[in-house]
Amino acid sequence: MVKKQLLCCWGWLIIFNHLLLAALVCSKSHGNPANDLVDIINNNRTAHKLPKLNDSSGLGCIALQYAELCKGNCTSNNTVNCKPSEDDFTEVFAPNCGVELPTFDTITAHIVGCQSKYLEPSLAFEHVLVRDRKALSILRNKSHTEVGVGMVRAHKGPFFWCVLFSSGKTNSTFVLENRGEGIHQKKGCYSGSSIPCGAGQRNDSSLLNNVTIIAFLCAVYLFQQLHFN
Ligand SMILES: *[C@@H]1O[C@H](CO)[C@@H](O)[C@H](O)[C@H]1NC(C)=O
Ligand SMILES: *[C@@H]1O[C@H](CO)[C@@H](O)[C@H](O)[C@H]1NC(C)=O
Ligand SMILES: *[C@@H]1O[C@H](CO)[C@@H](O)[C@H](O)[C@H]1NC(C)=O
Ligand SMILES: *[C@@H]1O[C@H](CO)[C@@H](O)[C@H](O)[C@H]1NC(C)=O
Ligand SMILES: *[C@@H]1O[C@H](CO)[C@@H](O)[C@H](O)[C@H]1NC(C)=O
Ligand SMILES: *[C@@H]1O[C@H](CO)[C@@H](O)[C@H](O)[C@H]1NC(C)=O
Repeated sequence: MVKKQLLCCWGWLIIFNHLLLAALVCSKSHGNPANDLVDIINNNRTAHKLPKLNDSSGLGCIALQYAELCKGNCTSNNTVNCKPSEDDFTEVFAPNCGVELPTFDTITAHIVGCQSKYLEPSLAFEHVLVRDRKALSILRNKSHTEVGVGMVRAHKGPFFWCVLFSSGKTNSTFVLENRGEGIHQKKGCYSGSSIPCGAGQRNDSSLLNNVTIIAFLCAVYLFQQLHFN
């Protein structure tokens, strides 16, 4: 009897260890799709002999605010119908991120796109963001020096991406207060940050928590079985 229960428990432990591993692998490759998209943008630029763009977390966070404001304005054919005002950038987006206003620089261009289902960053780049000549010429513009990417999902709705370009100098523009930490974002992901996506995006951390709790309960159960028999 005890042996059977022990075996059962080991079975569960093995299954959950596999889940744990899968969750770890997933969170590693999908930790932050916004960062992946910056890499894709830079690889595309360098393949065309253009300099890499610096990844600005302040600009990335502003891109996330843009996406957050516009996430409801994705049309049925995946085009975006949304025009934030210039004031939104300095009066809403920057303060929401904790970007120090004096360091706010010119945003030279933006590319936005939305898609009803989640696409890997490389597919989002090709099919959502850079799907016409206009977007391609923005991507290859020589006057950009830095980039920021934000991504958020409307509640059970489409995934919204925003790429912002600036001609500023990275370490003195879009500086985040609190020694570069800025204001914690509850939703979505943005580039230049080591933080994975916020809630409502992917739930790797809650999966990990569940696995840990179940493994712990299993260990307690195992201990009791050993102890009382
Ligand atoms: C997408 O829909 C909008 C209106 O909802 C329309 O103006 C636009 O032409 C459509 N674009 C394509 C590519 O079908
Ligand atoms: C989003 O779309 C609605 C309806 O077309 C429009 O009234 C609103 O101004 C749009 N939002 C922005 C920020 O452009
Ligand atoms: C590149 O971006 C700058 C700043 O937005 C703009 O003035 C210029 O016309 C763009 N160049 C091209 C080739 O699109
Ligand atoms: C860069 O991106 C464009 C648009 O998706 C694509 O057509 C082109 O092949 C890419 N270039 C490289 C070298 O990947
Ligand atoms: C990009 O970042 C690097 C390292 O932080 C810095 O040396 C360089 O000056 C930056 N380039 C621009 C154009 O801001
Ligand atoms: C910004 O860059 C300059 C020159 O590259 C450097 O002296 C300065 O310490 C940097 N500032 C920060 C906050 O990293």
